[in-house]
Amino acid sequence: MRFEWMTRDTVRTYMGLVVATMVVLLVPSTPASAQDAMKAAVSFDSDGAMQRPKGYREWIYVGTPLTPNDMNGGSAPFPEFHNVYIQPDALAAYKRTGKFPDGTTLVKELVSVGSKQATSGKGYFMGEFIGLEVATKDTKRFKDEPGNWAYFSFGHEYPLADKAKAFPAQSCNACHANSAADDFVFTQYYPVLREAKRGAARSAEAGHTSHDGTTCEECKAGIRRFAMAAGIARKPSAETPVGALGEIPTGIEDLHKYLVAGKYKGFAASESETHPSAGPHSRFGSPVKVYMNAVMSDAFKTGKKALPKGAVSVKEMFSKEGQLDGWAVMLKTADDSAGGDGWFWYETTNTSDPSDYVARGNGVAMCYGCHSSGSDFVLTSFPLK
Ligand code: HEC
Ligand code: HEC
Repeated sequence: MRFEWMTRDTVRTYMGLVVATMVVLLVPSTPASAQDAMKAAVSFDSDGAMQRPKGYREWIYVGTPLTPNDMNGGSAPFPEFHNVYIQPDALAAYKRTGKFPDGTTLVKELVSVGSKQATSGKGYFMGEFIGLEVATKDTKRFKDEPGNWAYFSFGHEYPLADKAKAFPAQSCNACHANSAADDFVFTQYYPVLREAKRGAARSAEAGHTSHDGTTCEECKAGIRRFAMAAGIARKPSAETPVGALGEIPTGIEDLHKYLVAGKYKGFAASESETHPSAGPHSRFGSPVKVYMNAVMSDAFKTGKKALPKGAVSVKEMFSKEGQLDGWAVMLKTADDSAGGDGWFWYETTNTSDPSDYVARGNGVAMCYGCHSSGSDFVLTSFPLK
């Protein structure tokens, strides 16, 4: 087969178009005014002080960190239990997008330790409400605060103050900026928010892979033409590092031999069965099966955003009749993914002739274009199904 010659720039533009079309089609439609529609959770008086919020115990509860005084030299900076709540609209947006929208407010209500003994055993049991703190994100009112987050305290004993001024950034914001897991919020201690974020990631992924090309003729054609740029795929943009790169060889002969022998089948994680591909691999829409080595799956398990060097995934590609007829491989060869150059890409649909590969090398534009929307270039969502 002869492939029409395209410059890398043509391919890039092309991919831009295909990816842009996909993005337009796949981004779930959110009302443009999602955040305008969000009711203000807190109000401010004319001199900029926040009024003590009311009704927050009917918001969504996200978790209770506990820094008991008796484990903190008798007096913890934020005493005892911290019951944290978020307003329902902000949680709904976070679930959908994985981001805290403008106007997000979290309330942390401090509760004393009451009893340390119950019929169920020894422990810390909640006593009385003792204090109230608030964090709010407001891109207009707090446009000069880091991350647009401002922090308030209504006191650590009752009666609470009716209003409070924002603290200077170094008192509160700085520690949140340094140590909080997601946008100044300590989601690492709030299981409800972590679960919401995973939900958002899953629906984004479902949106991506549900694009199986059968629903959009234009995309299907675009992706086919795209796959035809195979000549380009054999001209990678970066050099593949020589030498030991972990679990798979990268040489033309060695790699082919390795794949034919099925050595990747011993990888730590694999899909339990084949499924139709959402990508252009092999004959469009053929079943595929994805494997990931321990370097990759361990990093995903611990929620790492950037995968370490040595992370490998192999995708088996089958014919309609269920015959294994090729492989797609990606191997991370550098700490920095460098827009796709830090990955080694390989694809073949010939199980007997090693020289007849589709793509091979670091920074293959035809591969990283689509993959750039993945999690450090990996499109299959983890854990594998
Ligand atoms: C030394 C670090 C540190 C400083 C300084 C700090 N916080 Fe926090 N803050 C935390 C941690 C850790 C959590 C989550 C766990 C917990 O509540 O103990 C938290 C949670 C919160 C929350 C719940 C929402 C969220 O972002 O997770 C509010 C509200 C809050 N802090 C307000 C304040 C206010 C007001 C100040 C300044 C008076 C302040 N914080 C200063 C570490 C800090
Ligand atoms: C048009 C988009 C697209 C292009 C171009 C593309 N892929 Fe993929 N790739 C996918 C999708 C979607 C998946 C997820 C599994 C599936 O549905 O096939 C995937 C999965 C993979 C996987 C399994 C790990 C993962 O990221 O999920 C490997 C390995 C892979 N592709 C390698 C390649 C190589 C090598 C190339 C270039 C020759 C390439 N891909 C080009 C869309 C693409």
